[in-house]
Amino acid sequence: MSDPVDATTTPAWARLTELRAAYEPDLRAAFAQDPDRAARFTRTAADLYVDLSKNLVDDDVLAALVDLADQVGVPQRRDAMFAGERINVTENRSVLHTALRAPRNETLVVDGTDVVADVHKVLDKVYAFSDKVRSGAWVGVTGKRIETVVNIGIGGSDLGPVMVYEALKPYVQEGLTCRFVSNIDPTDVAVNTADLDPETTLFIVASKTFTTLETLTNARLARAWLLDGLRASGAVGEGDDAARAAVAKHFVAVSTALDKVEAFGIDPENAFGFWDWVGGRYSVDSAIGTSVCVAIGPENFAAFLAGFHAVDVHFRDTPVAQNVPMLMGLLNVWYDGFFDAQSHAVLPYAQYLHRFAAYLQQLTMESNGKGVRWDGTPVTTDTGEVFWGEPGTNGQHAFYQLIHQGTRVIPADFITVATPAHPLKDGETDVQELFLANFFAQTAALAFGKTADEVRAEGTAEAIVPARVFTGNRPTTSIIAPALTPSVVGQLIALYEHITFTQGVVWGIDSFDQWGVELGKQLAQQVTPAVGGDEEALAKQDASTQALIRYYREHRA
Ligand code: F6P
Repeated sequence: MSDPVDATTTPAWARLTELRAAYEPDLRAAFAQDPDRAARFTRTAADLYVDLSKNLVDDDVLAALVDLADQVGVPQRRDAMFAGERINVTENRSVLHTALRAPRNETLVVDGTDVVADVHKVLDKVYAFSDKVRSGAWVGVTGKRIETVVNIGIGGSDLGPVMVYEALKPYVQEGLTCRFVSNIDPTDVAVNTADLDPETTLFIVASKTFTTLETLTNARLARAWLLDGLRASGAVGEGDDAARAAVAKHFVAVSTALDKVEAFGIDPENAFGFWDWVGGRYSVDSAIGTSVCVAIGPENFAAFLAGFHAVDVHFRDTPVAQNVPMLMGLLNVWYDGFFDAQSHAVLPYAQYLHRFAAYLQQLTMESNGKGVRWDGTPVTTDTGEVFWGEPGTNGQHAFYQLIHQGTRVIPADFITVATPAHPLKDGETDVQELFLANFFAQTAALAFGKTADEVRAEGTAEAIVPARVFTGNRPTTSIIAPALTPSVVGQLIALYEHITFTQGVVWGIDSFDQWGVELGKQLAQQVTPAVGGDEEALAKQDASTQALIRYYREHRA
């Protein structure tokens, strides 16, 4: 694997430095002087119409960013990823989430195995299982059909499924509901099972490694809840055989570690595999999405995968200057490196995307929140901006103040769809139009601001004028699609996966490991005995931790 190119040593970086020094953001003038600016800075990827024109760029900056991508080798590394090379260097793994959505007729042989054929074998199993649950052919141990599917997982084994389930609610089969348990806070499993009927509940234990403390603990709690409930009502008898029969009908698993699934007590027949070349945060389109597939059905799930694939093809085959994920990733690098942007807002004007920012937080920050490059050397620029956001218009009444008038540059992606899921009218007013008017008005206000003279012209008292001035030149990207279909949701996810990839390559980062999070997994194991009363273990903790644990012990009711 080739060493990362230090972006800051490239001619393109030198050019960007020069351009930044001379660049005085003035989007009003840029639009006034160039009537074609909107058209010239708009691109499409599959169904996504992406308007980059309200970003702080001109032709020279864009050209230099495109050069930067070439000079650090973004296209080459992209090709290496698609080909199955082991670009996840620190884990010595291929990175093949793109193979998860490759059409059945494609072939990709990696280490002697056709991974696309393997993917479709598992997909077929997931589809067959989903059909059985949806049709009522799969019943619980007492013969009742399944009404609630509870996905137990965390990180990538939770955030993707829950986000997509919420995004595609209108596609969920009537009579079926999914719930998601992730947190090891006992409240999570307790609240999510409290009103369920064990006889009609199916648990999907989703864990790539099947070692994650939260997931295995919650799975055991769920198993105990199931058996206690079934026994209390007399639905099943005591003894191991009865328990096994109940678990077989109410538990399935998704994992790369099928041996561990079996050791947990789940029949491997009821387990769906995937592979170590799928990162957790890149896995919603693998069997990890089984809960979603059950909810929306195989046909919609296939359309969801096709959406990913359409953007993969765009990313793979489009020259940098037209390549939407690359350009968006390069713009992020521009803001992070040259405007000291420390965060990035993602603002969906589509209520069903209300978990999209949470999902992106893992995708982007677990991928690029790193300080060393894939050859072990330190990074040479800041990396890993904070991604955050809430759906519009809720965010407008909360944090947009900071985006409009704060002191930092906060690039923001506005995302919406033309056709609403619920086309409601308020009298004669189409509410979607009111909603989208907010989207359009916000992006315009952020770009063009309001001058002191404009504020004065509204009759504002002079003393208050400064507080009511909007500087404008606050960068936004507008993304619009026809409707929030399964395909479009897949397209949006793939878009951000490839944006993340592009930034990672420019920074020289291995975007596919997560050693920082692995540490947390080990630490909790070490501290647990101390929390439980082991004085020797407590004595090994630092003074602050000891005091906190003692407080806990004294106050635990
Ligand atoms: O949070 C760290 C992490 O390893 C994530 O990358 C992953 O999505 C999550 O834990 C859950 O891991 P698993 O699917 O193995 O339970």
